[in-house]
Amino acid sequence: MFPKVNPTQTQSWQFLNEIFAEKDFDLRSLFHENPNRFKDFSIEKEHFIFDYSKGLFDEEVLELLFSLAEECQLKAAMEAYFSGEKINETENRAVLHTALRDFSDEEILVDGENVQPKIKHVRQQMKEFTHKILSGEHLGYKGKPITDVVNIGIGGSDLGPAMVCKALAYYKTPLDVHFVSNVDGNHLAEVLKDLNPETTLFIIASKTFTTQETMTNAYSAKEWFLKSANEYDVEKHFVALSTNISAVCDFGISKDHIFEFWDWVGGRFSLWSAIGLSISLAIGYENFEQLLHGANEIDHHFQNSDFQQNIPVIMGLLGIWYRNFFAATSYNIAPYSQYLEKFPAYLQQCDMESNGKSVDRNGDFVDYETGAIIWGAAGTNGQHAFFQLIHQGTELVPVDFIAFAKSCHTVSGHQEKLMANCLSQAQALAFGKTLKEVETDKEATPQTKVKNLSPYKVFQGNTPSISLIFDELNPHTLGQLIALYEHKIFVQGVIWNVFSFDQFGVELGKKIANKILSEIENQEIVSLHDSSTVGLMNFFNRNH
Ligand code: F6P
Repeated sequence: MFPKVNPTQTQSWQFLNEIFAEKDFDLRSLFHENPNRFKDFSIEKEHFIFDYSKGLFDEEVLELLFSLAEECQLKAAMEAYFSGEKINETENRAVLHTALRDFSDEEILVDGENVQPKIKHVRQQMKEFTHKILSGEHLGYKGKPITDVVNIGIGGSDLGPAMVCKALAYYKTPLDVHFVSNVDGNHLAEVLKDLNPETTLFIIASKTFTTQETMTNAYSAKEWFLKSANEYDVEKHFVALSTNISAVCDFGISKDHIFEFWDWVGGRFSLWSAIGLSISLAIGYENFEQLLHGANEIDHHFQNSDFQQNIPVIMGLLGIWYRNFFAATSYNIAPYSQYLEKFPAYLQQCDMESNGKSVDRNGDFVDYETGAIIWGAAGTNGQHAFFQLIHQGTELVPVDFIAFAKSCHTVSGHQEKLMANCLSQAQALAFGKTLKEVETDKEATPQTKVKNLSPYKVFQGNTPSISLIFDELNPHTLGQLIALYEHKIFVQGVIWNVFSFDQFGVELGKKIANKILSEIENQEIVSLHDSSTVGLMNFFNRNH
């Protein structure tokens, strides 16, 4: 049984409340009092180090957070998660993206069926197809090799693969892989304008194969293709990734070109499934498997480590400590790698669609905060944009620093500067600059201006961060990184007692959009709308 514990009713929560009221968590003092703080609060694994020492906690808080996890029955929840129990109760589904990166021969049961054979079958299908495209065995309708791939999908059928393809661009095959997600026709038009239908492969990626944006783009892409080709050429140029086989067939895609996945793979956790076909084509199947292996390594770590040594557990618990006790409303993701430019946007869906909920697993409204707002950008760019607010604004914004010791390319002097910036931001956020330090820093502020400028130059510090530093960015370490966050999100969902694997919050807007669309198309407003919506619809009708 998946646990349903209200975290605020636990003893640990009460104690955490008391401690929060009693104690000051000052990073300068915490580091001063414990010279071993880094050693005590960092974990080194193969390929990366996790440093959480710059966090606003002491031993006592940490122990209470682990007790909170115990009281919320996190261990039982993890067992249910990995064993294929239908923990996505509101949709009556198991949650088994972890099975997709399991290369063991152990049975993984869903409704009594071992799902391993079908996972292996689709992996083999992806491997063969990738090989055929890359080797030129699969040719376009005019006998030319495929040069460009367009993945048409949105949400989980876009963000994960797009993020990974960008992150692993260093490992790129000769194929150019493009992503079209937005129903804004400009997105498709901009991608298609430079492409040749004779050498372009379309991947229609949609779990449901009903999503308005994806189906609209898919039909428009087909129309574009048919301007120069015939209906029977479609099978060479269109493949589908979906759980909805009959809808794919209706679209006209041949059965041989359907890469299946299953309802126990959530959209935002689907990059490990057939949805990863664009990744396999972009970096090669062997590299795609390395990504899966990296994630699988973290699955084992998460499943088998004690809470005290368990990185996703610690990440999740610290996030709860900041969200529910320090009232942090948002959380910044700062990857110091241009390759990870899309990582914050990917995590936004993964985290906010999972834990942006306000009804608990007992069906009651929660009276505590749940998922935070996730945002960020690649460093050092973020430093020149929004870091001012994190350093000197009025919000507490915890930061996750992500970096890689080695650079993929050797461009003399850059990597050291990148890393120096990453480390210095974490240090500045943690320890700040006191008034006394400002006043005595004659180089920074000339003596004549000290009196007026000093208050503006003070940095309060005490902004918590974690650092995840990997040896290098490659498919394996990227798999590790993504899986760490997936499990962090799981941990937080368990403790907040919400259902992390549904997303009913996206439904209402979709429904209303359909109604408004038919009224816009017919130039006739027939349903009751508020005056604001009517006014805006009229403006649109007059001007488009
Ligand atoms: O935004 C809602 C959502 O259902 C996401 O969870 C999902 O990733 C996305 O739409 C796309 O769905 P599909 O893959 O079925 O087209």
